[in-house]
Amino acid sequence: MAWYTGNTLYDTLLIVGFLYATLVCVGSFFGTAAYGGRFGGKRAKGIKLGAKTGWIIMELPGLLVFPIVFFMGKNADQTVPLFFLVIWMIHYSNRAVINPLRMRVQPGSTASFSLNVVIAGWITLFLHGYFNAAYLTEFGTQYTEAWFTDPRFIVGLCIYVAGFTLNIHSDSILRNLRSPNPSPDEPRYKIPYGGGFRWLTCPQYFGEILSFLGFAIMTWNLGAVFVLAMTAGNLIPRAIYTHRWFHKNFDDYPKERKAVIPGLL
Ligand SMILES: NC(=O)c1ccc[n+]([C@@H]2O[C@H](COP(=O)([O-])OP(=O)(O)OC[C@H]3O[C@@H](n4cnc5c(N)ncnc54)[C@H](OP(=O)(O)O)[C@@H]3O)[C@@H](O)[C@H]2O)c1
Repeated sequence: MAWYTGNTLYDTLLIVGFLYATLVCVGSFFGTAAYGGRFGGKRAKGIKLGAKTGWIIMELPGLLVFPIVFFMGKNADQTVPLFFLVIWMIHYSNRAVINPLRMRVQPGSTASFSLNVVIAGWITLFLHGYFNAAYLTEFGTQYTEAWFTDPRFIVGLCIYVAGFTLNIHSDSILRNLRSPNPSPDEPRYKIPYGGGFRWLTCPQYFGEILSFLGFAIMTWNLGAVFVLAMTAGNLIPRAIYTHRWFHKNFDDYPKERKAVIPGLL
């Protein structure tokens, strides 16, 4: 099927990707991915990995597939695609390596990262890496240097930077709720304060969604819309579950916070 780029493989996979994203969005309202202390543990079926290992193995295709496909494209030496390559590598170096290595794991917590989640993550990252890299260096026609002054690029980049900054700052607040070497009798979860937590239970997720919204606008391609749909479909329901969990477990949880979208949800 050729309808978007004219390449049968790409266009067919894009349809498959959007059908998969729809399934994930609907499925997420019946239960969130089995990882982490709140939603992994006993809910994680089959083989389970520790948090750091699970994150690194799951996110590695993000660091590998994109550059491989990118450098196979005929426009891989062009400035605008190379700019997006840098953004991508910074994003996925943080997600696949820096953040997992800096994570503070509660001693004695059992492995809670389901292998099924890793496999679902691989499918998403293979599609995501292929769609975006192939479009940026092979199929997309808009990425001349004039793209740097296009309003879609400028607005998208601003949203991306705001989202990425919020995501990293919120992850850092959460990390610092635990001491660098937590003792087993330290409470595993505390109420986070400051930064985006003034308004939201999950500003890290809102930041992630904003990042991919910005990326979709600044690259203006459907492959990026695919990952925006996957991210929002996965993280909005997870934020709602997390919000309920906090209200159930902390009597003094701030009532004014929304789950994931300021002022709305
Ligand atoms: N693009 C996507 O589709 C996608 C999907 C998922 C996640 N992400 C991103 O990946 C990053 C991590 O996500 P996540 O779902 O693992 O986030 P998370 O639930 O916020 O957990 C992150 C870390 O903080 C700890 N933590 C969470 N709440 C805490 C609290 N109240 N007190 C003390 N420690 C706490 C967790 O410990 P425990 O492990 O012990 O719970 C974990 O080590 C986020 O930036 C997120 O946006 C992206």
